Amino acid sequence: MELRRFRARDGREVILRSPRWSDLDDMLELVNSLVEEGAEVNLCEPYNREDEADWLAELLASVEKGDRISVVAEVEGHVIGHVEVRIGRCYEGHTGVLGIAVKRGYRDLGIGTELMKEAEQQARGRGLKLITLEVFATNSRAIHVYEKLGYRVIGRVPKGIYKDGRYIDRILMAKELHSDEACDHPSSGDAGMKVSSES
Ligand SMILES: CC(C)(COP(=O)(O)OP(=O)(O)OC[C@H]1O[C@@H](n2cnc3c(N)ncnc32)[C@H](O)[C@@H]1OP(=O)(O)O)[C@@H](O)C(=O)NCCC(=O)NCCS
Repeated sequence: MELRRFRARDGREVILRSPRWSDLDDMLELVNSLVEEGAEVNLCEPYNREDEADWLAELLASVEKGDRISVVAEVEGHVIGHVEVRIGRCYEGHTGVLGIAVKRGYRDLGIGTELMKEAEQQARGRGLKLITLEVFATNSRAIHVYEKLGYRVIGRVPKGIYKDGRYIDRILMAKELHSDEACDHPSSGDAGMKVSSES
C-alpha cells in the first residue's frame, strides 16, 4: 500500500509504502550492502536469499498480525530504505523498538528522516506511547537524525559493541509519542518530552 510520495534533496521522487514479497531482492541487496560497507549496525555476515526470504516472510506475517510496523522507501522502482517498529507484548504493548537503514548512495537526502516520521505517525495511530532504539555511539549521522526528531539518550552500555578490533558503547534512546503532535513537524517531537535524558 502506498503511503505517500516526496522529493528527496536531489530531486528524485521517493515513494513510502508497505513492504511486499516482490521486494525480496532489493531487501537482500540493502542488507548485504550494509554488511559490505561495514555500516554501524549489528550485522556481520552476508545474508543469502533463503535467509532473507525467511526474514521477509516473518516481517510480512508480523505486519499482518499487527505486531510490527514496516515502511519501505522506493526510488526509481527499487527499495533503498526500510524502517520497522517492533511492537512490545503484554505490559509493553504501548512501546515499540525502532530499526532503520537507508542504502549508501541514498543518504543525506532526507529519506531516513521521512521514514522515521512515517513510522512514528503509524505508531501514534496504533496507540503507541514510547519508541526506543539502540545505536552505536560512533554512529553520528544516525544520532543526529534521532536527536533532530526528539529522541533523547536514556542509557548506555559501555563497550556493548566489539567491531573491527575496538569497543564501542551502545546507546539507548527513547521518545515519548503524543497523539496531539503535528506529525510532520520535526521539532514538535520536543514538545512535552518527558523521557528523562541520561545525566
Ligand atoms: C542513519 C540513516 C538511517 C539516516 O538516513 P538518511 O537518509 O541518511 O537521513 P537523512 O538524510 O534524513 O538525514 C541525515 C542527517 O545527518 C546529517 N549527517 C550526515 N553525516 C553526519 C555526521 N557524520 N554526523 C552528524 N550528522 C551527519 C545530515 O546532514 C542530515 O542532517 P539534516 O537533515 O539535519 O541536514 C542512514 O544513514 C543509514 O541507514 N545508515 C546506515 C545504517 C544505520 O546506521 N542505521 C541506523 C542504526 S541505529
